[in-house]
Amino acid sequence: MLRFETAGESHGECLVATLTGLPAGLPISVEAINLELWRRQQGYGRGGRMKIESDRAVIVSGVRHSQTIGSPITVLIRNRDWQHWSEALPVENEPGAEDKKRPLTRPRPGHADLAGVMKYNFPDARYILERASARETAARVAVGALAKTFLSHFSVQILSHVIAVEGVRLSRAATWEEIVALAERTEVVLGCVDAEIEGRMKEAVDAAARAGDTVGGVFEVVAHGVPPGLGSHIAWDTRLDGQLAQAVMSIQAVKGVEVGQAEEAAAALGSQVQDTISYDRAEARFTRGSNRAGGLEGGITNGQNLVVRGFVKPISTLKRPLESVDLATREPAAASYERSDVCVVPAAGVVGEAMVSLVLARAFLEKFGGDSLGETRRNYDAYREQLKNY
Ligand SMILES: Cc1cc2nc3c(=O)[nH]c(=O)nc-3n(C[C@H](O)[C@H](O)[C@H](O)COP(=O)(O)O)c2cc1C
Repeated sequence: MLRFETAGESHGECLVATLTGLPAGLPISVEAINLELWRRQQGYGRGGRMKIESDRAVIVSGVRHSQTIGSPITVLIRNRDWQHWSEALPVENEPGAEDKKRPLTRPRPGHADLAGVMKYNFPDARYILERASARETAARVAVGALAKTFLSHFSVQILSHVIAVEGVRLSRAATWEEIVALAERTEVVLGCVDAEIEGRMKEAVDAAARAGDTVGGVFEVVAHGVPPGLGSHIAWDTRLDGQLAQAVMSIQAVKGVEVGQAEEAAAALGSQVQDTISYDRAEARFTRGSNRAGGLEGGITNGQNLVVRGFVKPISTLKRPLESVDLATREPAAASYERSDVCVVPAAGVVGEAMVSLVLARAFLEKFGGDSLGETRRNYDAYREQLKNY
């Protein structure tokens, strides 16, 4: 089974991710991983940290001569900020180290700070925020890029775009071509396919920044070219919608996940939300009248575009801090401020792509298996033949 794990602290030496279960013989490009890492660092409304970190992946295991060899792949991403933090977060304690700590004693509402110190029994929240920070998502994006590469060999592509920032919302569906065109832009954008709406989104970010505030929004991840039959209706944990929801929900600051048009459907009549079925005799294939289900029925992909949305809360660290309490004195105090972003919705979308890619690659390998890419290919091609009966 395809599985991954990440490790590393926000201001530690590096982030690390391992990915186990990719078949051997998959061509790997480090630049393809770096491109995804770069995309995660873009987006209108990012803070100073992104200017310091320019992430580069180093692969230290599982890839030889630009190909996977079937063993666990380890990707390492150095934190360039480490040089300023090595005394605050040393691995081994040394005399005087106590004075160089950078304790965070005024927990920030909306972060893991307070719940974390109570759970792990720390006097301050430094070690909690170091791991809770979304810097960890760089490691997810790195292994997500490997999953994306694997899926691309079967013509599955995964991209994201932004459909809402604060109260500004794209009210029409984006076409796949628009989403592809967006991914090819290189300037710092908000990731909306509609230029006029994107302009209004930027204004919302600017207004929040001026007020020392932050904004959230909604990103949409679309997977194109997904074969029908991934995931299964047979058990609660084999349903792909459930797996995708967990994966996307696990992204820092994501507070809700929607597959297809969930919110709209809940307020509509049954006759208005299902996707009608037709048969095209000339093409010898089934067609659908719409894709409101987001490409999943009964927890199984149906061959339409897979559409998953993540609802991102406005990030919690505020320049104009909220009310909190000092952990040492228990006296009221303004929450601590650490350099922070104003809007992370486009970046969260890139992380969403990574999580969807990892879930899809796992479901793909569960269905088609294979210890080498050639074996996976044979199994996949045989299934494609079987689908011709439908
Ligand atoms: C890509 C990305 C970047 C983020 N950057 C920040 C940030 O600079 N400051 C901040 O307070 N929160 C940031 N967040 C959100 C926090 O990590 C998140 O709200 C926090 O870990 C609390 O977790 P929860 O909101 O999921 O409960 C970011 C989230 C993402 C996805």
